[in-house]
Amino acid sequence: MYHQYDAIIVGAGGAGLMAALYASKGVKTAVLSKLYPTRSHTGAAQGGINASLANLEEDHWEWHMFDTTKGSDYLGDQEAIEAMCRAAPELVYEMEHMGLPFDRTPEGLIMQRPFGGHTRNYGEAPVKRACHSADRTGHMILQTLYQQCIKQGVTFFDEFQVVDLIENDGVVNGVVAYEIATGKLHTFHGKSVLFATGGYGRVWSFTSNAHALTGDGLAIANRHGIPLQDMEFFQFHPTGLYPLGILITEAVRGEGGILRNSEGERFMERYAPTIKDLAPRDMVSRSIYLEIQEGRGIDGKYVYLDATHLGREKIEEKLPEIADFCRTYIGVDPVVDPMPVHPTAHYAMGGIPTNILGEVLRDGDGNIVPGFYAAGECACVSVHGANRLGCNSLLDIIVFGKWAGQQMAQFSQENDFVPLPSEPDGPTRAALDVLRAATGDEHAGKIRSEMQHTMMEKVSVFREEPGIQQEIQLLRELQDRYNRVQLADQGETFNTELLEAWELGCLLDLAEVTAACALNRTESRGAHSREDYPTRDDVNWLKHSLAYQTDSGVDIQYRPVSITRFQPKERKY
Ligand code: FUM
Repeated sequence: MYHQYDAIIVGAGGAGLMAALYASKGVKTAVLSKLYPTRSHTGAAQGGINASLANLEEDHWEWHMFDTTKGSDYLGDQEAIEAMCRAAPELVYEMEHMGLPFDRTPEGLIMQRPFGGHTRNYGEAPVKRACHSADRTGHMILQTLYQQCIKQGVTFFDEFQVVDLIENDGVVNGVVAYEIATGKLHTFHGKSVLFATGGYGRVWSFTSNAHALTGDGLAIANRHGIPLQDMEFFQFHPTGLYPLGILITEAVRGEGGILRNSEGERFMERYAPTIKDLAPRDMVSRSIYLEIQEGRGIDGKYVYLDATHLGREKIEEKLPEIADFCRTYIGVDPVVDPMPVHPTAHYAMGGIPTNILGEVLRDGDGNIVPGFYAAGECACVSVHGANRLGCNSLLDIIVFGKWAGQQMAQFSQENDFVPLPSEPDGPTRAALDVLRAATGDEHAGKIRSEMQHTMMEKVSVFREEPGIQQEIQLLRELQDRYNRVQLADQGETFNTELLEAWELGCLLDLAEVTAACALNRTESRGAHSREDYPTRDDVNWLKHSLAYQTDSGVDIQYRPVSITRFQPKERKY
């Protein structure tokens, strides 16, 4: 089936919806999502969205920019970081005016709370910068933007899984989508295409990411010769609920919660004497791993996040969602007992390289791919560098989603449709037929589980050369076994087995790219902590990596980092 829209947006999380809202102000716009839109993963972001509103205490966008740059371990592009931090207050007020129900101060202003790595006066002490709606901020953003898109007349194709990108002579002009209910392939012809397909946390076994986070957009782009930037930097959020991995928001610590080891010690005082439990995520995750390694974990497996001193009223008002999770899933009431937590695979700092208008970059010289855009977690602008600060992801999606949507509208108004190649869905049809026809003795679930557990062991918070090498070897074996996966379901209707097998192909690709980039970067920076190269090496490594897929494996090239206001310094908290 054939469809034609000026702007085609893939993914209905915050970045996709914000882009759709703005593209649709100028041109005919469609959103394709493999989920029902309000089930997108933006809904899992809990603690808040950053803006230097200074509603409770002095704050400035320059302080926000400094914190974000320092938090990124100086790998973030400062031009992009400045643009985002300057725009933050205006964008947060825009969301407020769309109807987002923020918590309020007694005076009726948007309420703000401290979050990890956000400080006043260039590092002096934590500052209240995260604007929030209890611990459901992402959920509220998603609902608000979806309502606005419906009002604006955006067309939604729900449960349409995009499986390929269409190009003609280097110009992106459409996508191929699989309709989950019927198994039919649809060709969407567009003047501009945006990927806002989210992250790929499902590469790891212990993750805050939903089952849908399989990195489809990144894998598709990479298969089309587009590089992936900084894939060695994957964030482990310090507080995943043990043993499930579900996110327990950093807002618990923002509201005064404390991490404790088996001796009851507030161990973050030793690792980050100035901001303690509110240190950036890479540092807190490493500290938890070290506590456990040195024998101060509880049952040798996790640490405690203690909120019992906050009192029932505060927990029910400010942290109702995570309190429910704890009670429902593990039978722990955070009002009376500490929560068991362990670092959980949470967020990809790397992704499809873009400029601040969301235009996708083809190479390290900044050349763009005409017609192709990316925003949100699947994109790498790069504002997060080697380590993202909490609450900057919700900001990233609305700022860069908006600018990408505006740019798509302009591009679509100024350009005609580029003709489609003949049989644009041919390669997809062939690939799905191969998956369906395979007659081996392998099962996708088993391969996925092996990949997830070994990635967790060898390429997570800490890594070192022998472990990464072993993982790369294993991933090649898993790729080989993947070719022999047999499907039990040969039907067309809701064949989720087929789609999960296809998604596993994406995850295996991304695991290999991540491991290859982790092996290549012989230093420690942000979330990439090499035990065999424990220090940061600005002389050789203050640069972005760009990973291309080639027939002989992953080829890594580089791109310079934009440094404007803040020269790299030692990172102390
Ligand atoms: O901890 C949190 O609430 C997560 C927020 C984020 O990842 O930005």
